[in-house]
Amino acid sequence: MAKLNFRGVTYTDQDQIKLVLGEYGIPFESWGVRKLNDDSAEGVLKAYLPDVERMKLDRGYVTEDVIALDPSTPNLDVLLAKFVDEHHHTDDEVRFVVAGAGVFEINVTATERVVFTAEPGDLIVVPAWRRHLFYLTEEKSIRCIRLFKDKAGWEAHYPYAQIGSKERVLHFA
Ligand SMILES: [Fe+2]
Repeated sequence: MAKLNFRGVTYTDQDQIKLVLGEYGIPFESWGVRKLNDDSAEGVLKAYLPDVERMKLDRGYVTEDVIALDPSTPNLDVLLAKFVDEHHHTDDEVRFVVAGAGVFEINVTATERVVFTAEPGDLIVVPAWRRHLFYLTEEKSIRCIRLFKDKAGWEAHYPYAQIGSKERVLHFA
């Protein structure tokens, strides 16, 4: 279940979280946790297929995958160190959490961020070009479905790519 901190208030009511994030153009949905008949990526996508397909139709995503980070991930700390810097993407960052947890801090005004903790069953969309950062909770473990709007998103497995000379764009988190 998602948690949101904003302007000194902690929100745990999922409808309220949806409202607050919605005011700043950040889609949030509670899909709930479903039983997996098969723990593979295919099994995960199958379990959440109706919602994945609906999101693709509604918002124009064309590809999806399943990714995982945990303490057994090679160079996990190096990888995470990159995501914790503020960055943006040219595509939406769509994450549905299947297991584990992660924290998104997303800019909503010139000086303020929401702090959103995504847990199993939560779907969050960080809009394209929106500055944000990402880190794991103490457990350092997350498994997510990702959705992308174009093949460029699909190719974006690089930890980061350079755009121009100043902007660093992270594609994973
Ligand atoms: Fe990101």
